[in-house]
Amino acid sequence: MDTTQSDRVEDPKTEVTMEKIVSLSKRRGFVFQSSEIYGGQAGAWDYGPMGVELKNRIARTWWKEMTQLHDDIVGLDAAILMHPRTWEASGHVENFTDPLVDCKKCKQRFRADMIPEDKLAKKECPECGGELTDTRKFNLMFKTNIGPVDDGSGLIYLRPETAQGIYVNYKNIVQSNRMKIPFGIAQIGKAFRNEIVTKNFIFRTCEFEQMEMQYFVKPGEDEKFFEYWREQRWKYFEKLGVDMARLRWHRHGPGELAHYAKDAYDIEYEFPMGWKELEGVHNRSDYDLKRHQEYSGKDLQYIDQDNGNERYIPFIIETSAGLTRQLLMVLSDAYREEKVADKGNDDDWRTVMRFHPNLAPVTVAVLPLMKKDGLAEIAQDIRQGLKEEFSTDYDQSGAIGRRYRRQDEIGTPFCVTVDYQTKEDRTVTVRFRDSMEQVRVKREELEPTLKQAIKNYKRG
Ligand code: GAP
Repeated sequence: MDTTQSDRVEDPKTEVTMEKIVSLSKRRGFVFQSSEIYGGQAGAWDYGPMGVELKNRIARTWWKEMTQLHDDIVGLDAAILMHPRTWEASGHVENFTDPLVDCKKCKQRFRADMIPEDKLAKKECPECGGELTDTRKFNLMFKTNIGPVDDGSGLIYLRPETAQGIYVNYKNIVQSNRMKIPFGIAQIGKAFRNEIVTKNFIFRTCEFEQMEMQYFVKPGEDEKFFEYWREQRWKYFEKLGVDMARLRWHRHGPGELAHYAKDAYDIEYEFPMGWKELEGVHNRSDYDLKRHQEYSGKDLQYIDQDNGNERYIPFIIETSAGLTRQLLMVLSDAYREEKVADKGNDDDWRTVMRFHPNLAPVTVAVLPLMKKDGLAEIAQDIRQGLKEEFSTDYDQSGAIGRRYRRQDEIGTPFCVTVDYQTKEDRTVTVRFRDSMEQVRVKREELEPTLKQAIKNYKRG
């Protein structure tokens, strides 16, 4: 599919690195290490005030795309804890494993499929050259116990994907909502995997969120809808306003296909650490519903009442995205370091998050030039008037330039400044984050000006 030229100029000084993103995320309240005061918990992260806003906005955009813009898709919020037979039927108990090796010398643990082939063949540790153990299979599901007795009889899993909650509810939804094939079910929720390697910040974690949509189709129509959903997912990222030159398709080869998949593509994004999977579009065939029918003993056939009560097990096209991984993409994609002056000091530079205004945690910051002479009161009043329509911030401390820089770092697309002229003619300045251009508008025109700017936004 078509890609456009990347809009991010690479210069070693302004290169976007994971270290810079981690540092800004902590400094500005996007993402914190879980349980940091105890030394941190590997594979888990906490989303701060800016992070939770950004995450919710990404989730809302995806949800709107799926349910509001597609008439034939409905939502679901299934429980994380499911009957353990679910995971036998899904194949996770048997197949959801990673190959694991340990180094006998440095004690590091690796996924065998991530070690260079020559080293693995020689059983040589890629870090210290020590001897590696034999490869063994390691199941990624977290086990826990339900009920008061911990003797194994209450074994239960934390779901490793949200998809199965949709499959086991498919019949309920067909019946309660009179859904007719083809139709989809969308869900956003937490998933848990006991990942062996959890580096790269929030890219691969043990606790994360997924945004999955399962589309139920008549057998034989699966390939057509598979192509349809590939196209739809590509368009979603165009709408999200990210750099399309950093996205590409990767088709799974025979060795890569998951146990359930007839065909699969990943959308990959060029993260600071390289091209990596962002989300998957899978043709899951009739594997899932056949297996649940077999393991539950319940008839999961669809009855096509418009076609002489024809019965069949639907095929499923899945679009499976990581919400937290998408957040990392949005952070990486928005991050810029820009030279804005040439006076030979640190202030010449700004770090700016060029989020799409629909995703930015704060849409408008209202800043009085001075606290005194009634400017703060006017600014507070303006903020109050904007609150219903926009997410707002208010900042009256420090030099105005510093305040703009703070807003740039959290990606606020518009700053409204109240100055002495405001008192005279009821005008304010609107400062645009990307161009840093400032225009004067009447207070009454502020809301329509901002709405228009959001509607017409194109990242520069
Ligand atoms: N239901 C199919 C499924 O779960 P997957 O390729 O294993 O497929 C789908 O996962 C998406 O979930 C990935 O593309 C990624 O965005 C996200 N994901 C998977 N494991 C993750 C992890 N450990 N941490 C963060 N995101 C993860």
